[in-house]
Amino acid sequence: MKTGLVSAKRALEGKSAIVVVVDRKWRQDSLVAELDARTGEAVTREAKRLRFAGEAGQQVRVQTGSDLAAPLVILIGAPPAPKPADLWLVADQLAQVGASERARRLAVRLLGASPPDAVATVAEGVVLARYRFDTYRTEPEPVLPLSIDFIVDAATAELRAALERAAATADAVCLTRDLVNTPAGDLTPAALADRAAELAGGDLTVRIYEPKQLAKMNMGAILAVGQGSSNPPRLIEMRYEPKQAPKQHFALVGKGITFDSGGLSLKPAASMELMKRDMGGSATVIGAMAGIAALGLPVRVRAYVASAENMPDGNAIRPGDVLRARNGKSIEVLNTDAEGRLVLADALSYATEAEPRGILDFATLTGAVRMALGKRYAGIMGNDQQLVDSVLAAAAECGEGLWQLPLVAEYREHVVSNIADIKNTAAGAGGAGTITAALFLEHFVGNTPWAHVDFSSTVMSDGYPCHPNGPSGFGVRTAIRLLESSET
Ligand code: BES
Ligand code: MN
Ligand code: ZN
Repeated sequence: MKTGLVSAKRALEGKSAIVVVVDRKWRQDSLVAELDARTGEAVTREAKRLRFAGEAGQQVRVQTGSDLAAPLVILIGAPPAPKPADLWLVADQLAQVGASERARRLAVRLLGASPPDAVATVAEGVVLARYRFDTYRTEPEPVLPLSIDFIVDAATAELRAALERAAATADAVCLTRDLVNTPAGDLTPAALADRAAELAGGDLTVRIYEPKQLAKMNMGAILAVGQGSSNPPRLIEMRYEPKQAPKQHFALVGKGITFDSGGLSLKPAASMELMKRDMGGSATVIGAMAGIAALGLPVRVRAYVASAENMPDGNAIRPGDVLRARNGKSIEVLNTDAEGRLVLADALSYATEAEPRGILDFATLTGAVRMALGKRYAGIMGNDQQLVDSVLAAAAECGEGLWQLPLVAEYREHVVSNIADIKNTAAGAGGAGTITAALFLEHFVGNTPWAHVDFSSTVMSDGYPCHPNGPSGFGVRTAIRLLESSET
């Protein structure tokens, strides 16, 4: 999708369909008045006929003629101070309008004369709304090209930067969606590592660790989870290190289970159907790294992806087996389906050793988070309230639903094992599965400020504005925003 900036004067002379986003006071809008003047009041007439009140979700389409080259004029209603979700609804409507032959070029005036942040959210939203995953279709549905010019008073550097930011961020989210969409048979841990390695270049380097090296590195947990699969595990380390950035880095960690059968604690068939998505955390982290590098953010970031396939062959770990993680802690594996926390144990320990100023992990860790928060909110927990608050603020700014759950001290005893240091289930905690999973992870971060996002709930969308049915790309924007806003 192409985007640009245009003055109202040029838009009124040009052949792009003109879209004006208005609120309840739309009758006082000067651009609407101008359009009315050039169409013999056709815009207001049609708006009245449709009882258009400038409310969110409302739309008026007017076929023009006379003094206007634009084939269409469209009014879209929105609240006066639109939040990201309101702008997504607008972007979704633009994508729909743009799917028709008569509106392949749009000139769009947003509320408040198109402020940079709103322009960025909408430009990003239209790309996300038009997302398709056609790799496996014999005859992909053709998608019409679309170009959008935002109508602004002056084409400032800030607005241009907003458009570039939007394009880079949207690409990053689409990469994440593509990775999650790719079937597990094709996206093995090795293939996932290859996809990450393809991103290397400039200030971004990628290292891949194979099982032999993982053994030398004492990554007993990643190896254990992967040992029941004929597709061996990988640890992927990505470093984005621009020279001028402050020395200390921030770490992102992702759960990359390319398929979660449950292992010997096998899942029922229905629960397995969508388990290719269990590498969603890694997809978010890889997408965020791609975005951060494309944006050239002045921060150092390292990403660690722990990838394995959780399968139940004759070599698989058994319930009751004990393994040793990178930091030396022994773990009794009581349920092989609680594998995410195992691979994260090694990855978090390893990330901690490089002394980052903070760690943020993304993982489709527990079904329980969906019970707690539903499909539009993910859970966040952490040992550093300042970091958690920063992540919550970043999520709110880009419209991603995130809600903090407590690390309940009284539940810590439930991850203590009878024969080893800790165990990977916590039956005694009365169903607080999301919290006890985080309490398990806590054993691997030491004193490093750490926040953990469990997004089994939001990794897939069931269809809401700019998020078509399928992988949502959740977390990419939050991670990018977090690292954009933190200076150290
Ligand atoms: N990958 C699953 C969590 C999940 C569930 C993700 C639904 C997406 C949708 C995770 O590995 C898992 O199986 N967790 C178990 C933990 C339990 C065995 C302690 C769960 O949540 O049931
Ligand atoms: Mn599992
Ligand atoms: Zn899993």
